[in-house]
Amino acid sequence: MSRLIVVSNRVAPTQEGRPAAGGLAIGVLDALKQTGGVWFGWSGETVAQPQPPAIDVQGKVTYATVGLAKRDYDHYYRGFSNATLWPALHYRTDLLRYDRQEYAGYLRVNQQFARDLVPMLKDDDVIWVHDYHLIPLAEALREAGVRNPIGFFLHIPFPAPEVFRAVPPHAELAKALMAYDLIGFQTDSDVQAFRDYVTREAMGTSADVRAADGRPVVRLTAYGRTAKAAAYPIGIYPDAIAQAAEQFSTRKAVTEFAQSMQGRKLIMSVDRLDYSKGLAERFLAFENLLQASPHWQRRVSLVQIAPPTRSDVQTYQRIRQNLERETGRINGRFAELDWSPIRYLNRKYDRNLLMALFRIAQVGLVTPLRDGMNLVAKEYVAAQDPSDPGVLVLSQFAGAAEQMPGALVVNPFDMLQMSEAIERALSMPLAERQARYRDMMGPLRKNDLSVWRDSFLDDLRAIEAETIAHARVKRAASSSHGRRDQVKA
Ligand code: G6P
Repeated sequence: MSRLIVVSNRVAPTQEGRPAAGGLAIGVLDALKQTGGVWFGWSGETVAQPQPPAIDVQGKVTYATVGLAKRDYDHYYRGFSNATLWPALHYRTDLLRYDRQEYAGYLRVNQQFARDLVPMLKDDDVIWVHDYHLIPLAEALREAGVRNPIGFFLHIPFPAPEVFRAVPPHAELAKALMAYDLIGFQTDSDVQAFRDYVTREAMGTSADVRAADGRPVVRLTAYGRTAKAAAYPIGIYPDAIAQAAEQFSTRKAVTEFAQSMQGRKLIMSVDRLDYSKGLAERFLAFENLLQASPHWQRRVSLVQIAPPTRSDVQTYQRIRQNLERETGRINGRFAELDWSPIRYLNRKYDRNLLMALFRIAQVGLVTPLRDGMNLVAKEYVAAQDPSDPGVLVLSQFAGAAEQMPGALVVNPFDMLQMSEAIERALSMPLAERQARYRDMMGPLRKNDLSVWRDSFLDDLRAIEAETIAHARVKRAASSSHGRRDQVKA
């Protein structure tokens, strides 16, 4: 089978033993190891002088990473990716900041990535590009003469056209997306939003087609280009998580933590410290619960783990200050000598430890204001003890809500509804908890991470096969015309 080339802004940690990153890393590494290939991206470092990619070969997988000059980091990563695209694609146009120079830097880095990647490519490689940092990469690769099939997967939401239009170079970005052969989204709503943009804003056309196994796919034509688009909801490996959660629940750190709860109920939330995650709204809903139903005071704690990210982007500094203030205020209002309502931890924890904490939490509170998928919601469910599972309270604006029928789905802008859902989750009888858990574990197993990866790559390879067949037919047709013309002459 042809080699796989993965391109993403972050590249999975290459050293054995270092904690693996999220779904992307776990999902694509297996595929890379099978077919062999390259994982290309930013090294995570800023450098004085840009260098050719650093190469690290491990078995059949080559990791190729490049540093970014400070200016490129500021424009491409901190600027256009995370201060323009991230807020816009999460419906936060109020936080969107646009700077032409930053957009130029975004394009420049994508072009540089294409130049660095081209010499590593072989004719029959299949290229899979990930996320909003790299929208223009296919266009840059095509300009450099690359003819390989190129797919793109957007891990975050694609917003309604009216919101996307708030990004000043929205038409250029949509055109750049159309340079991919296949564009993957997390949910059907994201596919629909992109289709709406292409047909209404770009005056393109769309048609419903099917993948080989019958999944719905959309064929889009705009800007003189044709691409396919479909939903590939990213999954997890639920049984591996269940196993890790059970194994790690006997670790000292977990048993000591459980003891410190003194029989109180536990609500767990884990998010990157990001304004899209709805942390402040969640804290207010919890405060409301303690106020409206005082019998829960001293009987429940919310543990919020929120490792800081992108802390040099201003909006992230503000959200951090705001949450510190809110935690202090709510704890100051309700805490007792031996109880704090909220434990707020700005730290990263080992993945397995988190799974064990999920297992002992009666409630998983996952209430982003917008989220592409949200794997924490899926992981929380998978980590539960089937004989005594906890309850997932989930935002309707997480992509995961389309696939988690057993969750208590809430609107994170409705503080009272969230507060009522938390109370309902805390008091839910065992039989209902078990039924809801079963309703979710089935689909989680059926649509695990390998299904996400394989269906995307199958569709991309099918497009490649179609293109080759099409080119052959065209060649055959033109040579038979040629022969006829000779006969006529
Ligand atoms: C989200 C994005 C990823 C990104 C991650 C961490 O999940 O979809 O592309 O890598 O956040 O953010 P960071 O800015 O630290 O890479």
